[in-house]
Amino acid sequence: MKISVIGAGYVGLVTAACLAKLGNDVVLIDIDEDKLEAIHNNRVSPTYEEGLNELLSQVHIQVSTDYEKISPSDIIFICVGTPSDKSGSIFLEHITEATTQIAEALKRKLDYCVVAVKSTVAPGTTEEVVIPILATSGRKAGNDFGVCMCPEFLREGKAIHDFMNPARVIIGEYDSKSGDMLYKLYQSFNAPILRTNLRTAEMIKLASNAFLATKISFINEVGNICKQLGIDTYEVAKGMGFDERIGSKFLNAGIGFGGSCLPKDLKMLIAKAKETGYEPTILEGVLNLNEAQALKLVESLKKHVPLKDAVIGLLGLAFKPGTDDVRDSRAIKIVEVLLQEGAVVKAYDPLAVKNFGKLFPQIEYVTKEEVLNSDAILIVTEWEEFNHLHYKGKIVIDGRRVAKAREARIYEGVCW
Ligand code: UDX
Repeated sequence: MKISVIGAGYVGLVTAACLAKLGNDVVLIDIDEDKLEAIHNNRVSPTYEEGLNELLSQVHIQVSTDYEKISPSDIIFICVGTPSDKSGSIFLEHITEATTQIAEALKRKLDYCVVAVKSTVAPGTTEEVVIPILATSGRKAGNDFGVCMCPEFLREGKAIHDFMNPARVIIGEYDSKSGDMLYKLYQSFNAPILRTNLRTAEMIKLASNAFLATKISFINEVGNICKQLGIDTYEVAKGMGFDERIGSKFLNAGIGFGGSCLPKDLKMLIAKAKETGYEPTILEGVLNLNEAQALKLVESLKKHVPLKDAVIGLLGLAFKPGTDDVRDSRAIKIVEVLLQEGAVVKAYDPLAVKNFGKLFPQIEYVTKEEVLNSDAILIVTEWEEFNHLHYKGKIVIDGRRVAKAREARIYEGVCW
């Protein structure tokens, strides 16, 4: 099929590369010429993602800043960023800007196509924002063009695998003609396909991420209780996880969830709920617990080391292993408090130092061996390599359950 992807960010680039790999004719549109140049000429992804550069070197993707290039397309995926503002409400400018440009191009497009939203948006956005803007083209939804909402569920670090092997494909459709086009694209994927309406598809995405976040905050709360009772949270999670109604995944207790998705999508759902006059008690509880959980690491540390002028070493800065992404990483809160308390912070991460250094140029970025020479060590991201370090004689407060660290002179888990 002829596919256009608007937005060469994380979801857009992975979507474009994977669909090209599957033999589709792909055009990638973005306003950032440098980014497009790096992708097209150097076959390099602007963000680190396992296997993406290799994939880019295997496929052909036409890139452009010119929206006219979308005119031959059967499907136009909107994959632009949807950051949220302080209140958690969605920031729609990228969506409205991209949709306006698509509407402009639709004026000159004669054949039928489907505009499919893949960005994470609050329920109602496609109907209330995207379709009205597309209608300014003078073309008619349902006749001249179709509309779908087809959320992505890929994880950073495993994005290509998750795109190619989705647990499910959700097709929210304006009408069955629109849905048929997306169904045609995804029917070769070995996954269940759920066809539903637009706002339900939007809600499935937000509710799925909110549930993952809830599972993490749940096990962290159980962990906080277990720690008081001298019970091993991971043993409890193991026992729980045998029940398929609970499932063993996403029960790794620690300092909480970060990244560009779970916190943002949870806040977006909370904001949307409040907009309707509903108080989402569970979701707010999930967020509040997560906000406090990372700081428990510092509370535990203070029992062993007075922070003023102490040298505190951090192992891990990325929001999770396998990525250089530090967006909403738990390390941010931890470093903020350590600096407020007058500690000297030395940090190591195999990939994320560049990104974290932009946020905290004032701390020292050192080797993992130098981190181990600190007065005390905090484990913030569970990189595999940390399981091969020597912790004997050290003071270690572990936020991510790195087994080898138990050999430390003083070892404490954040919630085990
Ligand atoms: C998430 C969803 O998994 C994905 O389906 C969606 O499309 C985008 O958001 P991602 O942000 O890449 O993906 O991160 P994920 O692997 O889900 O981890 C999120 C956070 O939860 C990380 O900070 C991780 O450390 C934490 N986490 C995860 C836990 O604390 N415990 C767990 O058991 C699992």
